[in-house]
Amino acid sequence: MDAQIIELPKFLDRRGNLSIIEQFKQIPFKIARTYWIYDVPGGEKRGGHAYKENQEFIVALSGSFDVILDDGKERKVFHLNRSYYGLYVPKGVWRQMENFSTNSLALVLASTSYDAQDYVYDYNEFRKAK
Ligand code: TYD
Repeated sequence: MDAQIIELPKFLDRRGNLSIIEQFKQIPFKIARTYWIYDVPGGEKRGGHAYKENQEFIVALSGSFDVILDDGKERKVFHLNRSYYGLYVPKGVWRQMENFSTNSLALVLASTSYDAQDYVYDYNEFRKAK
């Protein structure tokens, strides 16, 4: 699976910590869009789809959650719980997010503008396309 955890630069000093993401440096795409997911009620799941073209980078800015990825060959669970690393999700990967902790904040950087046509919501269709 081409998905991977990417460590981000971390500047630590007595005033606190600072981390950064720059397009084409820490992540392999140009950032077209940013969104964030917050106030997720306990037990809720997000995602449950794939994108035909969109690539994403997901960071747990606060709290923790799991990202479950399935590329049609294997299924992997990534637990995100620190703001100095994130998960790179290539296009064409089925993804779901769950186990959000209270007050968790998921930052998502995306390679494309929002396009409802880019979503694949049918898992069987996703498997067939693989
Ligand atoms: P959705 O894709 O269902 O969220 P998730 O993948 O986390 O389950 O998005 C929820 C709503 O927000 C849906 O009505 C579409 C809208 N939306 C946008 O308008 N622009 C965006 O960039 C995103 C990600 C969602």
